Order: sequence, then C-alpha cells, then structure tokens
Amino acid sequence: MTIMEAVQARHSVRSYLDKPIDAQAAAELRAIVDACNAAGGLRMQLMLDDSAPFGGLLSKVGWLSNVRSYLALVGADEADLDEKCGYWGERVVLEAQRRGVNSCWVGGSWKPGRSAAEVRPGERLALAVALGYGRNPGKPHKSKAYADVADAPGNAPEWFRRGVECALLAPTAINQQKFRFALVGADGVRAATDNGPFAKVDLGIAKYHFELGAGEAHWQWVK
Ligand SMILES: Cc1cc2nc3c(=O)[nH]c(=O)nc-3n(C[C@H](O)[C@H](O)[C@H](O)COP(=O)(O)O)c2cc1C
Repeated sequence: MTIMEAVQARHSVRSYLDKPIDAQAAAELRAIVDACNAAGGLRMQLMLDDSAPFGGLLSKVGWLSNVRSYLALVGADEADLDEKCGYWGERVVLEAQRRGVNSCWVGGSWKPGRSAAEVRPGERLALAVALGYGRNPGKPHKSKAYADVADAPGNAPEWFRRGVECALLAPTAINQQKFRFALVGADGVRAATDNGPFAKVDLGIAKYHFELGAGEAHWQWVK
C-alpha cells in the first residue's frame, strides 16, 4: 500500500480485536517512531499492551473499546507541541495503516494519568493515537468542500488543489476541519486554523497531508 492509498483507506476505528500488533509491524513502527522523534524533536512512545488508560481490555472508555496499544505523544511542553504532535504523529498513523494497523486519534476519550508512558519534567503527554486491528475499517468522514478551506484564485496551481484535497481527508478532532490554506504569490502556502479543541494538533496533521498531496512541486510554507 502506498502512502496515498493509506490516506484514502484510513478512517478512525474505535473498536478493536483482542489481538496484539504483529511483531514485524511493531518493530517497523518502532523504527519509524524513533526516526520521527529524531527529526521532530519529540519523544513519542509506542505503547504495546498498555490498556489501562482505555479502561483495560474488553471495556469501553468514551467511544473506544478494547484498545490495547497506542502511540503516546510526548514532547517538551512548548507552544508548538500540539502542532508537532499532529505533524509527526500522522506519519506514524499512515505508516501503521500501510501495515494493516488501524488507528484513532484520542484527545478526550481516555485517562492519560493511567498511561505507562514516560513523561519527564518539562514534558507533556499531549494526546494519544489508539492502534490495533479494527473490528471494521471505519468509514469516510463528512467533509467540507475545497472552497470552504482554500483561499486561492480559481486558477490555483494543480499542486495546491491536490494539497488541499489531501488535507480534507485528514482526521480532525470532532471532525471540525478548522484549518485553512492560502496561496501566497505563485509558490507560497500559509496554513492557519481557527480556535477549537485540539485545533493545533489538527493543523499539524493537515499540514502533513497537504505536503503529501502537493508532492514535490516547487512550493514552500510561509508565515
Ligand atoms: C486531535 C484529535 C483528537 C481526537 N479525539 C478523539 C476522541 O477523544 N475520541 C474519539 O472517539 N475520536 C477522536 N478523534 C477522532 C475524530 O473524531 C475523527 O478523526 C473525525 O471524526 C474524522 O473521522 P476520520 O478520522 O474517520 O477521518 C480525534 C481526532 C483528532 C485529530
């Protein structure tokens, strides 16, 4: 499965089979988490068989049931932590999807105080992503339209359109899709978000999706 196929196939999955993540997939995901931590300056942790924050096995906290593994999003408690968690965490999510591992970002439906993740002084456990084999593959979310989130002329370049369309497939908290992308000049893109719960995490996720959709075309992020 390519990364773009993973973007299309990924939907939030909230009910999981009682099955640990396959050893090979877990080893590959650990390597990906390590690489993302090194590149992004985070301390994300792949937590296998730690169901306590989700109420233990065969139980349900919020909308989630039978979560035994998750990605703990930990990093220095600075202003940009949420956006960084979104950006780097979504890489792990899509690499998991490529390996048949389903996911659901979790801001509220868990008990972070019960997590075995290591959080050092000066760090924050921002949120989690539940990981596992779903009882179902999930389903596509309702989405805003391109024109609702894009600030660009009608003849915007193809790479910009593809970037926005890919961002519209990204997960966002309560499906709020509060991100916006503006074309600045011929090759600049400004990303912004309105306020909302975990909106900065959503922005990081959406920016990663935009990069995937826009591809290698010559463009850059501008403030
Ligand atoms: C930052 C963030 C936090 C989320 N928190 C929760 C949560 O606490 N509980 C939950 O059931 N879903 C949560 N979700 C999943 C969203 O509801 C879901 O991504 C959205 O409805 C879009 O659906 P999709 O992921 O299937 O595309 C969260 C998603 C994001 C991005």
